[in-house]
Amino acid sequence: MLKINLKSTSFIDTKADIGIVFVVNKNFKHTWIESKIFKEFGYEGEGIFFDQRNKIIYVGINAFEIDLFREASMQAVRYIKKMPFKSIKIGIYGNEEMMQAIFLGMLLGMYDFSEYKSKKNTPFLKEIFVAKENFDKTPIKNLQATLDKAVILSESIMLVRDIINTPPQEATPLFLADIAKKIAKENKLQCQIGDEKFLKKEKMEAFLAVNRASCFPPRLIHLTYKPKKSKARVVLVGKGLTYDSGGLSLKPADFMVTMKADKSGGCAVLGIINVLAKIGVNVEVHAIVGATENMIGGNAYKPDDVLFAREGKTIEIRNTDAEGRLVLADCLSYAQDLKPDYLIDFATLTGACVLGLGEFTSGIMGYNEELKARFEKLALKSGELMATLPFNRHLGKLIESKIADVCNVASSRYGGAITAGMFLGQFIRDIYKDKWLHIDIAGPAFVEKEWDINTAGASGAGLRACVEFILDVEARG
Ligand code: BES
Ligand code: ZN
Ligand code: ZN
Repeated sequence: MLKINLKSTSFIDTKADIGIVFVVNKNFKHTWIESKIFKEFGYEGEGIFFDQRNKIIYVGINAFEIDLFREASMQAVRYIKKMPFKSIKIGIYGNEEMMQAIFLGMLLGMYDFSEYKSKKNTPFLKEIFVAKENFDKTPIKNLQATLDKAVILSESIMLVRDIINTPPQEATPLFLADIAKKIAKENKLQCQIGDEKFLKKEKMEAFLAVNRASCFPPRLIHLTYKPKKSKARVVLVGKGLTYDSGGLSLKPADFMVTMKADKSGGCAVLGIINVLAKIGVNVEVHAIVGATENMIGGNAYKPDDVLFAREGKTIEIRNTDAEGRLVLADCLSYAQDLKPDYLIDFATLTGACVLGLGEFTSGIMGYNEELKARFEKLALKSGELMATLPFNRHLGKLIESKIADVCNVASSRYGGAITAGMFLGQFIRDIYKDKWLHIDIAGPAFVEKEWDINTAGASGAGLRACVEFILDVEARG
């Protein structure tokens, strides 16, 4: 783990193996060291330039934007960690928000998932020194608090990524439950793990049906963080499909690969509660994960089955690959019994959301326009891409069933992200309709190439956005 130290020395006087200087919008006046070397090597402020003589790495950034700084910081660390340097130094840029982004980018630049590689590459880089020098003279009050928050965020994001990246033979529902127990112990959270008996007692027949053909038993994980002074109660629900083969409506081979990441929503909510407990937010937070596999076998649930969901509604199954909404329907029902002020679910729910918004953006759905807009704004502020997708009554009709209260797939293939969201809406009681948000993270949760501050694989999507949202809930009082 990279350690970041705040220094009281200037950039030049701060000792380190190598320095990083961000060159914003090709403006070299803002760099600490004026150097002829740019001309000599033809560096004009784009990309990374390593001045080996003065041991400075220049990182070009197109505009003074937080998102660009975060990504550039990550790239700088990733560039340096291949080289034999133990320490680097940077200066201060912009305000606390900018510095949090820079810290986060640098800390996450160290991430790689090498658990299953026989040969692990341990980077030389161990330390970053932050010189007390702000070239654009923005006053910074509490850089230590900013750094502490970035460390908590990055550690949780890395934990979430590790769990999601873990192969399905190991990352079973029991494995997720064990991780939840560890998080609970570390942060003194209440931890309740419901087994099959519990699910039966709770009448979670939809959840249980999805699990039926799996060799691994299901688990309902429920972590609770209760601060002394609580301003609101937020209940988070995550889809925790440790593997989604599609069930009897089996996925084609190419589409099945990466479905270990179908637990991303569940992992995200564990990471979110971990961050909030460590920050000590004055908001009561619950994290609920519906953990199971969706497999095939003689005892598998089938297209044509009708399931009895916990909320008292019947569901006609026409496609067993639309399993996440079944698990969520029962978990959301359980979640509403906790009387939330805000109820938010995170799920890799539909391929349609990825088609509609692209693989880098999550979809925000729900009935409350103001709440959706608020979440979107805070998500963007946190550095996550999200966009709202509107429900409408015409799409709502597509999930009507002839023999049950609702059908688990829509009768049209268009608007699949929204019809899935509207399906979940069927299980939200009227009094909670305005308090509920559904976040479809199917796109950004797992991308098989590097992008933004993410390595190939799991990203930890949903975590930064939701932490930002709950901190805002706290600030509103
Ligand atoms: N887990 C998938 C959705 C998914 C697809 C996540 C791609 C990440 C990347 C979900 O359970 C699923 O299979 N959904 C189906 C629904 C359909 C059968 C209505 C889908 O999107 O194809
Ligand atoms: Zn599926
Ligand atoms: Zn799924």
